[in-house]
Amino acid sequence: MDKYLIRGGKKLSGKICAESAKNAVLPMIAAAILTEEEVVIKNCPDISDVKNMAAIVAALGASVDFCESDLIINSGKLSSYSVSESFGKEIRTSVLMLGALLSRTKKALISYPGGCDIGLRPIDIHIASLGMLGANIDERGDKLICSAKKLSGAKLVFPFPSVGATENVMLAASTAEGTTCIYNAAKEPEIKDLADMLVSMGAKISGAGSSVIEIEGVKKLHGTVYRPIPDRIEAGTFLVAAAVTGGEIELGNVKEENISPLIGKLCDNSCKVTVKNDIIYLRSSRARKAFDVITGPYPAFPTDMQAIATVLAAVSEGVSVIEDNVFANRFCHAHELAKMGAEITLCGNKAIVRGVQGLCGAEVYAHDLRCGAALVLAGLAAKGKTIVHDIKYIERGYARFEEKLRSLGADIVKK
Ligand code: UD1
Repeated sequence: MDKYLIRGGKKLSGKICAESAKNAVLPMIAAAILTEEEVVIKNCPDISDVKNMAAIVAALGASVDFCESDLIINSGKLSSYSVSESFGKEIRTSVLMLGALLSRTKKALISYPGGCDIGLRPIDIHIASLGMLGANIDERGDKLICSAKKLSGAKLVFPFPSVGATENVMLAASTAEGTTCIYNAAKEPEIKDLADMLVSMGAKISGAGSSVIEIEGVKKLHGTVYRPIPDRIEAGTFLVAAAVTGGEIELGNVKEENISPLIGKLCDNSCKVTVKNDIIYLRSSRARKAFDVITGPYPAFPTDMQAIATVLAAVSEGVSVIEDNVFANRFCHAHELAKMGAEITLCGNKAIVRGVQGLCGAEVYAHDLRCGAALVLAGLAAKGKTIVHDIKYIERGYARFEEKLRSLGADIVKK
């Protein structure tokens, strides 16, 4: 399996641009099958999650073409409602095909979704909500067999603002009969982006981005050409890469409001951060200071940045407390970072991080996407050689990661 070889200790500096958001593009690929007309998703990142999601809709009979970085999907002739088990097991968002297929064909057959192993990831909210819209969902082993005579609007109160469940309901309810209201909906920017795309296809959705979303079902949706928002997690990863190496970067294609929880932490850490239009400038500080993180649903600090923030804390003076309130066991990176000299004590859903003078190179293993990215950042900051194994996880979510890091002066190669 491919690995990264990193010789750490180089300050990163230069200019780079964030890609379109993975977590916006993936549900948009599911949304593309809601219409018989052509859908173009502009500027898609070249990552394996996008390829897998595209393969899922292609296997259902849609035509799928990449034209440079644009993804062109035409599902005029769907021939199946059964999601390929092999692709579905590769990716968490295969579960969104439930809502999309129910909307389009009133039938769906999928296996329990795969994706990164970051602790328990139940789909009870998805199943209960689609049931409230009129779907019959039969769980047989790890298969979900779903059908609906028709989908009808309903009032749904989520016990937790699940991102995926909010998206699944938006997909199914867009063409349901009547109005659906989601209370305690997820407010992530990618939710608003999916709603904006669906509206550009003729859907009637209001309130996306707030905790109450109203979806008035329409008979039919049409094609669209849509450019997703920038990837706030990729952007945050590069900002922290500069911060942990004592570097300085200019990051383009960012939305400040979507990344402000991280900017706050970087400032607490003594980095100098300035924002102008859609560009962020970051100059790291020599005297990095400890900071605390509590993750939560948006607008709180994102769980997807937790592992990456932990690396920054590991090389900052003082004790930082990193608490994950979304995925309580998302701390695989802590054991790997310890091999590099980080001092981290796990206590329930908290990591107590005692900053050290420096990390040292080691052989480490990516266990999931963000754990892998965090280990690369640690390798860039460390003295000596680091080998990061199992980089297939990193390639799920970062396009040309090593190439971009090299353009900023990093010594990293893929073997
Ligand atoms: C999405 C993101 C992922 C991010 C996560 C939280 C995508 C493709 N992925 O994942 O990167 O880490 O949001 O911001 O957008 N839960 C239930 N029952 C359910 C659904 C969720 O208990 O039916 C729980 C989960 O176990 C978890 C929490 O809710 O503890 C958040 O999950 P959710 O918001 O659904 O995350 P995903 O949509 O899977």
